[in-house]
Amino acid sequence: MIIKVGIVGAGNVSSAYLNTLRKQRKVRIVGIADRQPAVAEARAAEFGLKAMSFEELLAGPAQVVLNITPPLAHHAVGMAVLNAGKHLFNEKPLAATFAQGHELVELAAKKNLRLGCAPDTVLGAGSQAVRALVDAGAVGNIVGGSAHFMNHGPDHWHPNPDFFYGHGAGPLHDMGPYYISHLVNHLGPVLELNATARMTWRERIIPRGANAGRSIRVEVPTTVVSRLRFKSGAEVSLTVSFDVWKHQHTPIELHGENGTILGHDPNKFGGTVRWSQQDGDWQTVRERRPYTTNSRGIGLLDMAFAIEQARPHRCSDAFALHVLEVMDKSLESALQGRALTLTTTCERPAALAARLS
Ligand SMILES: NC(=O)c1ccc[n+]([C@@H]2O[C@H](COP(=O)([O-])OP(=O)(O)OC[C@H]3O[C@@H](n4cnc5c(N)ncnc54)[C@H](O)[C@@H]3O)[C@@H](O)[C@H]2O)c1
Repeated sequence: MIIKVGIVGAGNVSSAYLNTLRKQRKVRIVGIADRQPAVAEARAAEFGLKAMSFEELLAGPAQVVLNITPPLAHHAVGMAVLNAGKHLFNEKPLAATFAQGHELVELAAKKNLRLGCAPDTVLGAGSQAVRALVDAGAVGNIVGGSAHFMNHGPDHWHPNPDFFYGHGAGPLHDMGPYYISHLVNHLGPVLELNATARMTWRERIIPRGANAGRSIRVEVPTTVVSRLRFKSGAEVSLTVSFDVWKHQHTPIELHGENGTILGHDPNKFGGTVRWSQQDGDWQTVRERRPYTTNSRGIGLLDMAFAIEQARPHRCSDAFALHVLEVMDKSLESALQGRALTLTTTCERPAALAARLS
């Protein structure tokens, strides 16, 4: 059965999704909408699609809607999609706040609709290689680790960088989903966390491109350090920052009782994964796995197969809501200066060894 997909949001990331989804026999893209009709029309012309208004998309034949609008729009657009009786797959974060994310999850459950959420890099070759090492006990029980995302912010490369410094984004809500989702995929849910946060500059000046020289008001912390205690007992220190020019940390390190795993960049599908036992030499994972290059869209594809096969989809609403709570609670913990306990939990998604079918 082919699943009909509609897309809302025709900006920067839409071409990556379209490159993946238009090659899938399982999926037919029935239309693309954007608040700026000219943007939808340009993307539609590029990929041979039909541009339409959001209202037309909701009234049309799409069974699943891919919501790739900016974070502040995820909730309103998502609620409208679910209220129109269509399954929903959101870009990350699930919503700008935990309360909004919770509403989406509740509505999807009430309407018996699927709700999925990025990042689907969790299903990529790199993440699955780490997961296989953890599950095989290659380095023993994981007791600790670190995760680092640090750079000088997206104002250097993104054509519309303002939203990255607003509520629902910042390094934690924009990049944190990759790191936290990968950690939860490997280790299971978080029980408790304790964080600190800093806003280093209240204003950023766009350094290059069409908007060079324009200032952006910063609304959220641009450096956050959150110490995560997992239900498994592992403790991992997560650092995210838009304030750092250069560094040499590994994106994700997992420390086991019998060795160490060095993960790849969780914003990517593939990458080098290494591990060592005790003080032995580093070994590189050589096994071949699917999804090594930019495959944004495979989370939605997994959801499409899951609907047909009546099985849980991997990039699930419970998983994304838990990740969102980890982010919101980290900011709250930093404000309150104390450790906080999570109210949500989730299952680890099923591992993925072969291409989706
Ligand atoms: N750019 C990337 O490389 C990238 C990578 C991964 C994830 N993402 C995520 O994808 C989402 C979109 O990012 P982007 O980089 O494409 O942003 P963008 O600003 O380039 O594009 C977003 C588009 O959504 C449209 N839009 C905004 N509000 C809308 C609404 N209410 N209804 C319909 N259309 C609306 C805008 O007009 C714009 O064309 C964000 O959640 C971001 O975190 C982006």
